[in-house]
Amino acid sequence: MEEVTPGQRLLCQLEEIPDGGCRGFPPAPGGFVGLFAVRQGEAVIVYVNACPHLGVSLDWAQDRFLSADGSRIVCATHGAEFAIADGVCLRGPCFGDRLERVPVELKDGAVLVPEDAGL
Ligand code: FES
Repeated sequence: MEEVTPGQRLLCQLEEIPDGGCRGFPPAPGGFVGLFAVRQGEAVIVYVNACPHLGVSLDWAQDRFLSADGSRIVCATHGAEFAIADGVCLRGPCFGDRLERVPVELKDGAVLVPEDAGL
């Protein structure tokens, strides 16, 4: 078990996210909004799981956040599509808005985010 610095939250191990895939995480204790992570090789990008259109969660089923080809993040409610790299909405009712990015630290294979991410 990795040592977690105070102020950080351990999301999971890098190997627990499929390469080219994604995974959702529940809200932090005391929070209401979850997070999701997209893995691309050794890089992990984390966003708050809230669509900028209506604030609802994006996934249509557990751990399903991506388009069929894995190239974009998709909101299940009205089909908005977001760039994985920067979270900008490229298509849909919130065109030009962006997902809220969460800073990530990778430490010895552990995926760490600020404790208050999503709060
Ligand atoms: S709530 Fe996400 S596109 Fe409308």
